[in-house]
Amino acid sequence: MCGIVGYVGSRPAAPILLEALKRLEYRGYDSAGMATVFQKLVVRKDRGRIADIARRLKLAEMPGNLGLGHTRWATHGEPSRVNAHPHLDNSKKIAVVHNGIIENYSELRKFLQSQGYRFASETDTEVVPNLISYFLRQGKSLERSVREAARRLKGSFALAIVSVEEPDRVIAVRQDSPLIIGLGNGEVFLASDIPAMLQHTKRVLVLENGEMAVLTPERVVIKKINSGAAVEREPMTVNWTAEMAEKGGYPHFTLKEIHQQPEAVRDTLLAPEEELKKLARFLLGARRVYFVACGTSYHAALVAKYALAKLAELPVEVMISSEFGEVGSLDDKTAVLAITQSGETADTLKAVASAKAAGAKVACLTNVVGSSITRMSDLICYTYAGPEISVVATKTFAAQVAYLLRLAINLAKLRGRSGSKHNKLTAELKELPDVMREVLAKVDPQVKKLAGRLLPANDIYLIGRGVGYPLVLEGALKIKEITYIHSEGMPAGELKHGTLAQIEEGTPVIAVVTPGEMRLKMVSNVEEVKARGARVIAIADNGKDLREHVDELISIPHTEELFSPLLFIIPLQLLAYYITVGKGQDPDRPRSLAKSVTVE
Ligand code: G6P
Repeated sequence: MCGIVGYVGSRPAAPILLEALKRLEYRGYDSAGMATVFQKLVVRKDRGRIADIARRLKLAEMPGNLGLGHTRWATHGEPSRVNAHPHLDNSKKIAVVHNGIIENYSELRKFLQSQGYRFASETDTEVVPNLISYFLRQGKSLERSVREAARRLKGSFALAIVSVEEPDRVIAVRQDSPLIIGLGNGEVFLASDIPAMLQHTKRVLVLENGEMAVLTPERVVIKKINSGAAVEREPMTVNWTAEMAEKGGYPHFTLKEIHQQPEAVRDTLLAPEEELKKLARFLLGARRVYFVACGTSYHAALVAKYALAKLAELPVEVMISSEFGEVGSLDDKTAVLAITQSGETADTLKAVASAKAAGAKVACLTNVVGSSITRMSDLICYTYAGPEISVVATKTFAAQVAYLLRLAINLAKLRGRSGSKHNKLTAELKELPDVMREVLAKVDPQVKKLAGRLLPANDIYLIGRGVGYPLVLEGALKIKEITYIHSEGMPAGELKHGTLAQIEEGTPVIAVVTPGEMRLKMVSNVEEVKARGARVIAIADNGKDLREHVDELISIPHTEELFSPLLFIIPLQLLAYYITVGKGQDPDRPRSLAKSVTVE
């Protein structure tokens, strides 16, 4: 987590850095800071949100045409002014911002202390500027000193460094944390991700692990950290626009992104057929198939598990990435599909690395071109949701589900399982973006009112069956992430094995009644909780039959059972959003969470 930015060019650096930091705030937001070089090092930083810090410390007015900035999600050391980045060396000539964790920092700190260096913060980062200064004192150039220092760091790090001694350059270093260089005309940008620089350029260079880059206004030189050998890399052009990373009239990114889901699904359904076929063959060629993912991506993977089993009779083991190492049995006949919207989630990258080490083949499904996962995968597949800025995933979930449903249909066809049903399903899937639009328009006002009534709730339970099960997991995740209300999603059949004891007079229970064979059983579960006094909100396929039995009915137009997650997720996302706003909280930036979790 944490976001870092840098700029070198002929324009005032501070407003550019500040704007980019605001766009990266989803990566962490407990403190922020900037450093520019203008005759000396100018550093301003503090605890709190960027907009407040910017106002108080007049960040935009910092002088100079070169600088760097940071928005923090604390790992080592509490959020405070002294722990905020940038961090300086003892001579106050070098400033460093860092995303990631320096695992051997206490060893390095002891060594530097033995050399007379003092430390002001509790962070792991502060060893970096001092280690660079240690090599500078030996008469080495800034570039050489950064390289020597980087070679001695263990862990994951993206770093940006400036020094008053060489005021024409920003140096960037990357190991396991993302770093993108943007090429302008006589100016160069640096950021943890692409949307932070879309306003200025679409030509980017992705720094790879074990590389560093020297950024000057006219030139970017990339080198290997270990050998110092120069690396030639062609820039790539991204097709995201700056408007895609704006709120576009919506009060929050979360709401905008919920409403963008029909487009995310439509665009993802247009993903190249050849890529899908390759993925289908990749999975069919394996003896065992694992899907690994975290958070919302894990829920999309679970939806796919049902679809692959039902349509293509392909059993898939879906694993939370951080647990994969414990139970995954891997060999060269194993296929692993890593699902990660950001392509940067450390737990998923780690799972993939262990799979590769055991000889397994890896494919990925990601939303971010050039992200870390793409460089580790034998086969790369993309969703087309556009940049997702809000911390909570919404439209990337819809895009992942759409892609994986298409995969299931393709697999069924390859295995000769679906017969004539295949064409019908493909046609119905194509219609879904329009139906999603209808559902959005219809349920938004109803859910808004309902959210008002749920504001005082302490717990919200969600139940579902079949493909409704991953849906309620995702709905509960949305609710707890942003409303902070305790929420649990579970298979409705499991109620009687424990959770039913929690249901009493007035407990809110959301019953997700998806179409299909399980529907009748779900109706019985509704009765079961109702009999214990629950206040039941049913989100149901049509649902006329339920009207008399529930306190609130959100009716969803009928669709193919396996496609229903794309419609049913909408009221659940909207409910989480409106409760959050009703409580006066910021849905885009929930406490303690970050979008891109680059630590294990
Ligand atoms: C974080 C985000 C979640 C996301 C999860 C996995 O926890 O807050 O919204 O679902 O990471 O992210 P990924 O980029 O791997 O899909």
